Amino acid sequence: MIGVKHLLGIKYLSREDIDLILHTADTFLDVINRPIKKVPTLRDLTIVNLFFENSTRTRLSFELAEKRLSADVINFAASSSSISKGETLIDTVNNILAMKVDMVVMRHPKPGAPHFLSERVNARIINAGDGAHEHPTQALLDAYSIRRKLGEVSGKKVLIVGDILHSRVALSNIFCLQKLGAEVMVCGPPTLIPKYIEQLNVKVETDLRKALNWCDVANMLRIQLERQDIKYFPSLREYTMLYGLNRNLLESLNKELVIMHPGPINRGVEITSDVAVSNHSIILDQVENGVAVRMAVLYLIANRQED
Ligand code: CP
Repeated sequence: MIGVKHLLGIKYLSREDIDLILHTADTFLDVINRPIKKVPTLRDLTIVNLFFENSTRTRLSFELAEKRLSADVINFAASSSSISKGETLIDTVNNILAMKVDMVVMRHPKPGAPHFLSERVNARIINAGDGAHEHPTQALLDAYSIRRKLGEVSGKKVLIVGDILHSRVALSNIFCLQKLGAEVMVCGPPTLIPKYIEQLNVKVETDLRKALNWCDVANMLRIQLERQDIKYFPSLREYTMLYGLNRNLLESLNKELVIMHPGPINRGVEITSDVAVSNHSIILDQVENGVAVRMAVLYLIANRQED
């Protein structure tokens, strides 16, 4: 049984919880590759996808995972809701729960919003990304994708490149990879590396070539312009020259390297199109694996007994 009632962050999971999720995802990956991709596992459950911030992959992936598990699904987008008329988060959620909803998958721009909700409503909460804090299912699917590609995560050297300061993907990945026994390095402009990073036992490198020479896996992150209130580097062109991954750089390394990206990609900024579709890239595998991992999370959280 998983050790948490809600999935609020990787921080709260044990190594055993993560292993259980990844192991359970193997079963669901088999299911979604069968001609009949659906199982009746969550037939009696109603799940709401509550998105207060834009999403393509995470929202569709959760919705597909819920439908593959036969749950009833309702979707809520803040932009078309009564939030614009002044309704609070708690009132919105309590009104939805009054319709007998069992589980809430939530994305919110404020760090801690899913934690706040989990203490005030009687439903299981899954964090689908809270501000620059955590994105636990992204980290789980990233770890799962590394495990499928390289056999295991333990002992692997994983590089995270880009806007570490504003990235919930980076923080959740650091927690998850370290719990699974990987070494983690971050690379980017010094202004986009948070000051607390070394307390997380993470290596820091500002030279992309040196960082790429060190790692087995490079996870290329997008610059989160929507979370930047000031300029952190002179121009996107300069950022791309120093921290973008292109074919010339990749080929000059002359090594096996697994390239990942959580999406959405800004082609030509952090990664060129040819690298994104190259044999090194597992970007679309991450998306496929995401459905299986989210099925595993939904299944394990739904079936956890009350304390
Ligand atoms: N990776 C990720 O969270 O993508 P979306 O913002 O499209 O959900």
